[in-house]
Amino acid sequence: MKLPGLIDIHVHLRDPGQTHKEDFYTGTSAALAGGFTTVFDMPNNAEPITTAQRLDRKIAEATKKTVSDIGFYFGSLGENLDQFEQIYDKVWGLKLYLNVTTGGFIVDLPAVERIYAAWKSSKPILLHSEEDMIAGVIEIIKATRQPSHFAHVSSAAELSQIIAAKESGLPVTCGVTPHHLFLTDRDAAAQGPYAFMKPYLKTQADVDFIWKNIKYVDAIESDHAPHTREEKDGENPPFGVPGLETTFPLLFTARKQGRLSLDEIIRLCHTGPKEILHIETAEDTFIEVDENTEYEIKNEELKTKCGWTPFGGMKVFGKVETVTLRGKQMYKDGQILSQPGEGKVLA
Ligand code: NCD
Ligand code: ZN
Ligand code: ZN
Repeated sequence: MKLPGLIDIHVHLRDPGQTHKEDFYTGTSAALAGGFTTVFDMPNNAEPITTAQRLDRKIAEATKKTVSDIGFYFGSLGENLDQFEQIYDKVWGLKLYLNVTTGGFIVDLPAVERIYAAWKSSKPILLHSEEDMIAGVIEIIKATRQPSHFAHVSSAAELSQIIAAKESGLPVTCGVTPHHLFLTDRDAAAQGPYAFMKPYLKTQADVDFIWKNIKYVDAIESDHAPHTREEKDGENPPFGVPGLETTFPLLFTARKQGRLSLDEIIRLCHTGPKEILHIETAEDTFIEVDENTEYEIKNEELKTKCGWTPFGGMKVFGKVETVTLRGKQMYKDGQILSQPGEGKVLA
């Protein structure tokens, strides 16, 4: 089966700064293995991407190493508003963190208001804004009408507020991760730090609510957030799990079970992301998928540098066999065929 190249609008490839967890080569290799031809990387690097200079350095690093297409977001802690003018043309949006998560780059609502006032681009502002923070952000969106994307919506309480905002005509979109669709708080209890991320895994009732209202979800985003086993097994395990290589097979398996149509998968992993970020996709870019063979997700076969997934050992369908980008085969049967730098940095 041939499908369009998938697009993931939410990954953390850790480069530069934390390349012991992942780098642009291994992260985009994982993207290709998972059927993604384009990924968008978040700014919470060890040194957050909050200056034009740091952004340029990140882009230069990716230009050398990437094997898929890749785009970037800028970050803000409220003190770099003077940088915005220089970076609008180099990024796909601005990412703000309103809750505790990896990196700890948190902004409060007054800062969010100042940032929204200073952001003079129709490119979206993306938000890590959990339950308690959503209402305040929605007030700011009401006042500014700034396109805004709520990342990794995880609960009934969060999604209900976003549905209400959408129905009142506000320019909001939202994404859901595969772990919030396929795991619950019971998996968190069983897997410990390996199922530990922000937002936390929620109850079965939350998961059921999201599935029931999937038509309001604009994109599946992997929130690929690798950490080493050593870090996960340590005293203070960091938040986040990898996802690039498991997102598509999980969704494809749900389709086999009759829980999701192929059209919905294409909407959530291709058309929806394109609309949120206004991406033009390259011609002659597609993936080929084996629909019929069940296979096991094996940690040792992953391309991500961290070498584990909370879905290790699971039996799934939808193995990606080949990936073609702009007419060139970049991946085939587990092998990366493209050279570092053969993917494009999108701007
Ligand atoms: C992400 C990370 O590790 O960068 N962690 C996570 O738990 N999701 C950050 C984030 O997306 O909040
Ligand atoms: Zn987040
Ligand atoms: Zn994230």
